[in-house]
Amino acid sequence: MQSEVRKKLLDAFTAANGDYLSGQYLADLIGCSRTAVWKHVEDLRKHGFELEAVQRKGYRIVKTPEQISADEIRLGLKTKFLGQVIHFKESVDSTQKIAKTLSYENAPEGTVVIAEEQLTGRGRMDRIWHSPKYTGIWMSMILRPNIPIAQAPQLTLITAVAIVQAIEEVSKLSPQIKWPNDILINGKKVTGILTELQAEADRIFAIIIGVGINVNQKLEDYPEELREIATSLSIEQGEKISRAKLIRAVFANFENLYLLYLEKGFEPIKLLWESYAISIGKTITARTLTENIRGKALGITEDGVLMIEDEAGTIHYVYSADIDLSEN
Ligand code: BTN
Repeated sequence: MQSEVRKKLLDAFTAANGDYLSGQYLADLIGCSRTAVWKHVEDLRKHGFELEAVQRKGYRIVKTPEQISADEIRLGLKTKFLGQVIHFKESVDSTQKIAKTLSYENAPEGTVVIAEEQLTGRGRMDRIWHSPKYTGIWMSMILRPNIPIAQAPQLTLITAVAIVQAIEEVSKLSPQIKWPNDILINGKKVTGILTELQAEADRIFAIIIGVGINVNQKLEDYPEELREIATSLSIEQGEKISRAKLIRAVFANFENLYLLYLEKGFEPIKLLWESYAISIGKTITARTLTENIRGKALGITEDGVLMIEDEAGTIHYVYSADIDLSEN
């Protein structure tokens, strides 16, 4: 109940866009007395929001909390299903693990698990994903698309495009995508995506998309060995970025692209993805589990598979690999 009232109030303050809302207006909105409004405002303050109260004008929000909360993320969220159910945690082993369990318990499509910190965050190939507290976005989204299993990797590419668009919306930065799932700024990794499938023989039960975005880390927050290869949005931009705003932008962009994909197929996503891709047309090395393939990256197929043409003119179709962009 308390959180429903909080959501109503936060929605109203978002719509007011920094203007004052009178005590009477808020009382009518939530169906209570003006004294009770004051108590609800106090509750918002306890949750880290700073509100200004001015006689005869009412209340307005002047600052949102540094720590994020499900409430703050919902503040102005305009999606139909993505992020409408948020499991928000202070500290977890991995959001991916929790999302997988929730999915098996039939959590609705669009459910998201977000944590302020992960103790054993994991990346692709079971690598460690460094997820320090209050700095980044560590989240896992549950999707249940009705598509053939072979097309599941396309969801990774949709996610990458959505994140690039979201970063462009909330910052002055221009990220690029390194196939299949790394997002780079000035050649350093700022985001990783881990897509995991829950499927029966011929049917997808769920796709769990894990997203790690380095938002407000400082260089010294990274272990020595990562400083050359990883970065954060705030390092690149020179100022902090609102994590809640970025999460909302990721949700909105992802939902739009996902619905477009379900209606029109992969073609429009493919074009967008290629427009952001760093490697297309360049000589790269793909390190797969079995071999290294060196050649020119031609683009991706309809299924999101990377095509590389080697020196002999043979075209290789790469489903899973680490990509090395260096020239030698
Ligand atoms: C990669 O680049 O290797 C993928 C990194 C994915 C990290 C995210 S953070 C949220 C979710 N929980 C995890 O344990 N991993 C993913």
